[in-house]
Amino acid sequence: MVETATGDLAVGDAVSGMTGLRLGTHAELVAVPVARLVRKPEGVSHDDAAAALFGGSTALHFLRDKAEVGPGDRVLVNGASGAVGSAAVQLARHLGATVTGVTSTINLPLVRKLGADHVIDYTTTPLSEVAERYDVVLDAVGNLTPASGRRLLTERGVLQLVVAGLGDTLRARGNVQAGAAPERAEDFAHLLQLVSDGHLTPVIDDARVGDGLEAVAVAHARIDSGRKVGNLVIHP
Ligand SMILES: NC(=O)c1ccc[n+]([C@@H]2O[C@H](COP(=O)([O-])OP(=O)(O)OC[C@H]3O[C@@H](n4cnc5c(N)ncnc54)[C@H](OP(=O)(O)O)[C@@H]3O)[C@@H](O)[C@H]2O)c1
Repeated sequence: MVETATGDLAVGDAVSGMTGLRLGTHAELVAVPVARLVRKPEGVSHDDAAAALFGGSTALHFLRDKAEVGPGDRVLVNGASGAVGSAAVQLARHLGATVTGVTSTINLPLVRKLGADHVIDYTTTPLSEVAERYDVVLDAVGNLTPASGRRLLTERGVLQLVVAGLGDTLRARGNVQAGAAPERAEDFAHLLQLVSDGHLTPVIDDARVGDGLEAVAVAHARIDSGRKVGNLVIHP
């Protein structure tokens, strides 16, 4: 038995976690510091656990920790069908916000199903033409600049550049937020509990990328297409 910040782990426990900048998880086996792992709740599948943490940790960091989203806030999620966006829509709703998801025509039903109160189809309504104002604009696409994003904000609103170059990251201050989201075991445990309780449904792309090492190149091609929906899961 090993004691961790999020509970005890024993040999044979089913666990979930992320390896941070060490990456390496294309391998069939990987050695991971125990502090980066949490016990997988029994009712949560390994696929869902794997798909919950990347986008979920990022969305939690930006929405809950940086913007302190709460009931009544109006949140716009740009890129609502991606890994970060699909988690952000659900977590913003869970935090009590009214959520608008921006996506393309084909993904509108998914984003509505994730709980978005409003959807914007960017193929017919570019964000530059949106007249509404939001308390939080989370950009998980990278096509908003500080100037074009600020235009969408209420007086006290914040722009979250989840995708930002070094320049915008260093210059981010005031109502512009950027930077890398941390990977914390307590957030993993929280996210898996939300999945277990039915408050978060990890989105898994139904593109058939296959399994094993051969699938990794196919998966990267899908990611590079820019059309990935949610997360890709590969079995060893
Ligand atoms: N700051 C951090 O700590 C942090 C952490 C994690 C990720 N990231 C970054 O966040 C970004 C998002 O990652 P991800 O895995 O969520 O991305 P992703 O899943 O690859 O995003 C793909 C999705 O983006 C949508 N999309 C493409 N163009 C769009 C547009 N113009 N407007 C709205 N949606 C659009 C696509 O939907 P359609 O097919 O409908 O267009 C697709 O479903 C990446 O650049 C990643 O590096 C940053």
